Amino acid sequence: MALILGIESSCDETAAALVTSDRRVLAHKLATQDETHRPYGGVVPELAARAHVEALAPLIAAALADAGVRLADVDAIAATAGPGLIGGVMVGLVTAKALCHAANKPLIAVNHLEGHALSPRLADATLDYPYLLLLVSGGHCQLLRVSGVGRYQRLATTIDDAAGEAFDKTAKILGLGFPGGPAVERAASRGNPKAVPLPRPLKGSDEPHFSFAGLKSAVLRAYQTDTFGVDDIAASFQAAVVDCLLDRTQRALGRCDDVTALVVAGGVAANLTIRAALERLATTRGLRFFAPPLWLCTDNAAMIGWAGVERFAAGFTDALDVSARPRWPLDPDAERARGAGVKA
Ligand code: KG4
Ligand code: ZN
Repeated sequence: MALILGIESSCDETAAALVTSDRRVLAHKLATQDETHRPYGGVVPELAARAHVEALAPLIAAALADAGVRLADVDAIAATAGPGLIGGVMVGLVTAKALCHAANKPLIAVNHLEGHALSPRLADATLDYPYLLLLVSGGHCQLLRVSGVGRYQRLATTIDDAAGEAFDKTAKILGLGFPGGPAVERAASRGNPKAVPLPRPLKGSDEPHFSFAGLKSAVLRAYQTDTFGVDDIAASFQAAVVDCLLDRTQRALGRCDDVTALVVAGGVAANLTIRAALERLATTRGLRFFAPPLWLCTDNAAMIGWAGVERFAAGFTDALDVSARPRWPLDPDAERARGAGVKA
């Protein structure tokens, strides 16, 4: 049995967790920075990095205390090494390096996206490789065939905004506050999803990818007409996102017939309407469906610890001079998608 300390600091959550190879989360601690960034309506990288510096060491100490273990008891320390806001990533990675150096432990540099991608396997021991993963977060929207630790084939990505970004921008347009995803979901639950005609970008397209920028602009136009209520716009927006996600996922499923499960992960996977729609799709295709519990969808350190468990078991550890990476695609061989600002 291996015990891994996981550290996460790539965006606006500072987190530490202790995870075992038999899927026990002995402790998980998390500090959100919502109050820090709320006045700006989005994450301010420099403020995020400073907040990570203040929060991280006490969180690690609290996680160790909660779990009743000492640093000497852990087998390795896994920290997010990218992709993400580089100042924050460096805080977590440098802290992990210092602890590894002091306690003479191996370091595991984890790709944050791999943390999301493997998180459903922490929650459920029956999820086997290969599976089709819809990874939907604030920075990414991808379909990946996951065939093992470090083995990802990217089938689709977004050519403009990520799904979570579309939720966040919609929340901003509608004045629903920050963070946007849960606020839009709440408003949507009170609205009529058919009230506002909105586009479904790339639906039915031969191109495998996602696009959300046009949908966001359509939300802005609908709002500016003063014809529709905020709840109806939110519900119609969410319905459009669901349609796009389903259409693209269906297309990808048609191209990987060896998978037995459809899996959704990342912050947007916390959305109950999206989960339910994907589950229906999986059922009609005769596939098993997995979505991590809500707390494991949004950024946390347990998923980084679990990715650490899987990497450690596979014999992957990293030297202490490993670099923090603002960009780090899971599938380096994936073709570039068209469009500006691609979230590869
Ligand atoms: O995975 P995550 O915590 O951070 C990144 O790695 O990006 O994802 C955060 C994103 C944000 O865009 C947030 O608005 C979205 O996930 N999100 C949601 C929900 N909860 C979080 N989107 C839709 N519905 C939700 N309930
Ligand atoms: Zn994330």
